[in-house]
Amino acid sequence: MSENNGFFITFEGPEGAGKSSQVAALAEYLTSRGRECILTREPGGTGLAELIRQVVKSHNSGETVHDETELLLMEAARAQHVREKILPALNQNKVVICDRFSDSTRAYQGGARKLPMAVIDYLNDFASAGRKPDLTILLDLSPEAGFARISSREPEGFDRFENEKLDFHRQVRQAFLDTAEAEPERFCVIDATLSKEEISEKIRQVIDAALF
Ligand SMILES: Nc1ncnc2c1ncn2[C@@H]1O[C@H](COP(=O)(O)OP(=O)(O)O)[C@@H](O)[C@H]1O
Ligand SMILES: [Mg+2]
Repeated sequence: MSENNGFFITFEGPEGAGKSSQVAALAEYLTSRGRECILTREPGGTGLAELIRQVVKSHNSGETVHDETELLLMEAARAQHVREKILPALNQNKVVICDRFSDSTRAYQGGARKLPMAVIDYLNDFASAGRKPDLTILLDLSPEAGFARISSREPEGFDRFENEKLDFHRQVRQAFLDTAEAEPERFCVIDATLSKEEISEKIRQVIDAALF
């Protein structure tokens, strides 16, 4: 079997955009077409990386999580996830579907937290061993619409990112759109206000063209 012959798909967009719904639908579709796939997420995806996820999303001891620390925790989780799970699956010719990846780091830690994009791009490349997604689906949604969808989701309150103000999330959205514009061959941008079924259908069309 040749090296790294799998296909790497990432889903990006704000909370509430429908990433979790659509990754599940896509995994079901690929399986029905006889293509082996794994479903994973960032930050997280392995035991160690999920521990880092808990820290980075929910830390609330009163000690500030500095932006630089947040970035390095995201990248540490990614380095582990890529080597432990993503690359091995791609090497077995599987389709890897990942809920968030490096473009989220550009959007949140770059676009919104304002850490230097050159540092982020360097660390993204380092953490992911230079393996870029073959396809990135950006589910584009306004922060207002995203919050309306998730307002009932977290009875114990929002995590550190969801607690940020609307303006933070507007910057996240813009950074996602800027990244997509810079790499149109990798990105497929979908209006996340469409129905779940309409979005699934658009994704299936893109996947059919790429894989079947
Ligand atoms: N296209 C859609 N239209 C309306 N509601 C949606 C759509 N996609 C998802 N939802 C709903 O929005 C909420 C967030 O969806 P989810 O898939 O968890 O998004 P994400 O993983 O991006 O946060 C859920 O209640 C889900 O049922
Ligand atoms: Mg989700």
